[in-house]
Amino acid sequence: MRKRVVVLGSTGSIGTQTLDVIDQNPDSLEVVGLAAGSNEPLLLEQAARFGVKNLALHNPSPSGLPSGMDAILNLVRHEAVDVVVVSVAGVIGLLPTIAAIEAGKHIALASKEVLVAAGELVMPMLKQNGVTLTPIDSEHSALFQCIQGSRHDQIESLILTASGGPFRGKKRADLLNISVDQALNHPTWRMGGKITIDSATLMNKGLEVIEAKWLFDMRPDQIEVVVHPQSVVHSMVKFRDGSVLGQMGWPDMRMPILYALQYPERVPNNLKPWNPVDTPTLTFEPADDETFSSLRLAKQALEVGGTMPCALNAANEEAANAFLRGEIGFLDIPEVVERTMQQHRPEVPTLENITRVDQESREFARKVQTTV
Ligand SMILES: NC(=O)c1ccc[n+]([C@@H]2O[C@H](COP(=O)([O-])OP(=O)(O)OC[C@H]3O[C@@H](n4cnc5c(N)ncnc54)[C@H](OP(=O)(O)O)[C@@H]3O)[C@@H](O)[C@H]2O)c1
Repeated sequence: MRKRVVVLGSTGSIGTQTLDVIDQNPDSLEVVGLAAGSNEPLLLEQAARFGVKNLALHNPSPSGLPSGMDAILNLVRHEAVDVVVVSVAGVIGLLPTIAAIEAGKHIALASKEVLVAAGELVMPMLKQNGVTLTPIDSEHSALFQCIQGSRHDQIESLILTASGGPFRGKKRADLLNISVDQALNHPTWRMGGKITIDSATLMNKGLEVIEAKWLFDMRPDQIEVVVHPQSVVHSMVKFRDGSVLGQMGWPDMRMPILYALQYPERVPNNLKPWNPVDTPTLTFEPADDETFSSLRLAKQALEVGGTMPCALNAANEEAANAFLRGEIGFLDIPEVVERTMQQHRPEVPTLENITRVDQESREFARKVQTTV
């Protein structure tokens, strides 16, 4: 039986790579639904290529495709769906993730913002509904693979690796006049715009720390970050006997996507396997969360808890996108996030509170942006 897959965010970096993986595995995977934000021409091209009839666009559709959040939720809930790939950029993936859980679909999650804003809400829902969530983020895929067969109490800590982004080794003074093009020039990964900016500020690693907390039920002090510029060791798990297991591979998202879709199987594929002799030097160094204060802010938000990570995420989505549009400077991004966090009074993270805090934090961040 082929797994019937819906891809949310099919026109993006993860979405298009997911379709490549499905294309390469026609015996075990089949795409049955596609959704995007506004890129209708590419969505229609993908639909024709894969013979998919069930489509949804978040923005109004010029050609009359089903559109809006309800259209996306209907796609997810369709009975002829086994797996939902959530790979939209941002917390906009939250409602479809919840709908997929309630409908009992396996979730392959790329949109880390969903767990950052609502991990406390989503994780118990998975348990209640008996739903499996496999992470697509390469670091969390590595951790997920390393802990297979281990008990939770055997895990001492998680070690998340970070490439360090394009500004590794730089100090604040070097970051004053960073252009959008410089920030988009990631040394090892080719990704969508927002996550590439998050990688340059190290907010991406901060979001991943929060994501790891929820996925693996860890205390904040059990999650370490090390900079590993080669992006070959995707992350590591330290066990209580001192053993450390890591997962290695070339920086190619198709590998964690394949694993997330095929779990618990491992299937042969045409991806280039990693060979240790091709990477003789693997280096590790501490992360600089003074220069890259977004990482520090994310850890703070996690310590505070409640809706604080939701406020952090909302402000960061607004600020990163404002930087991409050329409206604010690179160092203004953590400034906007910090000021938004300072005015936020954390609440219990119910869906209602998360939805409101997300909106209010975005509004506040947009106002602050004009003053930084
Ligand atoms: N790229 C990577 O290598 C990578 C690695 C790990 C994790 N992730 C995570 O995966 C997620 C997607 O990243 P990406 O790099 O693939 O982003 P991307 O290239 O910017 O693609 C984003 C996708 O989301 C869709 N989208 C945007 N707004 C939407 C909305 N309101 N409703 C429905 N769909 C919407 C976009 O559709 P349109 O094209 O129509 O705008 C596009 O298909 C992010 O959470 C990111 O952190 C990415």
